[in-house]
Amino acid sequence: MGQTQSENVRIAAGGGYDVRIGSGLLKETGALARRVLKADRVAVFTDSAVDSLYGETVEKSCRDVGFETCRFVFQEGEASKKAETVMDFVEFMSHHHLTRKDAVIALGGGVAGDMGGFAASVYLRGIDFIQDPTTLLAAVDSSVGGKTGVNISSGKNLAGTFWQPSLVLYDTGTFESLNDDLILDGTAEIIKTAAIRDAELFQLIQNGSVADILTQTVKRCVQIKGAVVDADEKESGLRRILNFGHTMAHAIEKASGYRISHGRAVACGMAMMTAASEAAGMSQKGTCRTLCRLLGEKGFDLNPRFPLTQLCSLAASDKKTFGDRIHLVYIEKIGSAAVFDMEIGQLEEFMKDGAAFMKNGAAE
Ligand code: GLY
Repeated sequence: MGQTQSENVRIAAGGGYDVRIGSGLLKETGALARRVLKADRVAVFTDSAVDSLYGETVEKSCRDVGFETCRFVFQEGEASKKAETVMDFVEFMSHHHLTRKDAVIALGGGVAGDMGGFAASVYLRGIDFIQDPTTLLAAVDSSVGGKTGVNISSGKNLAGTFWQPSLVLYDTGTFESLNDDLILDGTAEIIKTAAIRDAELFQLIQNGSVADILTQTVKRCVQIKGAVVDADEKESGLRRILNFGHTMAHAIEKASGYRISHGRAVACGMAMMTAASEAAGMSQKGTCRTLCRLLGEKGFDLNPRFPLTQLCSLAASDKKTFGDRIHLVYIEKIGSAAVFDMEIGQLEEFMKDGAAFMKNGAAE
């Protein structure tokens, strides 16, 4: 069988791994996994929607190269992102006799990737895993960098581990199966990546649709994320910039009972934060307008829909808090991010100034 052409980005974190980007990679999962795994058995972990599209393709590709396989399918949606699902999968792996040399293949979007990685990191105190992202968001963000986890009652991703994959395969053909909401989810993370690190990418997105420059855009985002993760794998400094917009986003998601998707919430969170930082004189004049214009053009609604008091109180239980202080990320200008911290009690006032700045036409 001829090999699929792909772009390759090397990540150094963990044991070091490749992120491959190309059309048709899902059906090569088995052959490419063989090169990096010592496994006899692999467990494919996916959700009900992705399973019906790609589950059999991936499992068959693994069987074809001699792996023993099993497949665990959970109900699609953020509501499944909980400890019970991970523990059910851990029991499943044990039932199928996976040993320390075996591996997980996480197939799907961020929910499958985060939970599949989490299960791999705790089963037998840690086994290998491969990420097969099938959404744009997972391709440009969550499948790379080794953050795994689940939601708990007090918030999003509050239980998890850092556990790097052995390989990431993004099959660009899966883009065809995404609905508008899933494309928007990924677009928000792409705009985030450009806003914090790459003014040229920002301009590229201003000038065209992500679909037209898919491989180039995903590759650039993975390169940027890889460089940040390689410099600060466990998020003690630089990696925090990847959380731009996420403090308010996680609060919005939680307030909505996870009915507002991650990407829509991130878009809103980035706008709120940039309004606040510009109002405080921390961002170059006009940054908020430039960012909000692009977000608006791509179809994001930038109205947070929940009272600031509620959102700031939810933000107080986010991972970005440190004692009574909270780390916040802002952009000084498009392409350049910085981190600062403030007392949690001051957050509402800071965000209120941003809301007033927005009301007075900052985004127009
Ligand atoms: N999604 C942010 C990070 O991986 O650090």
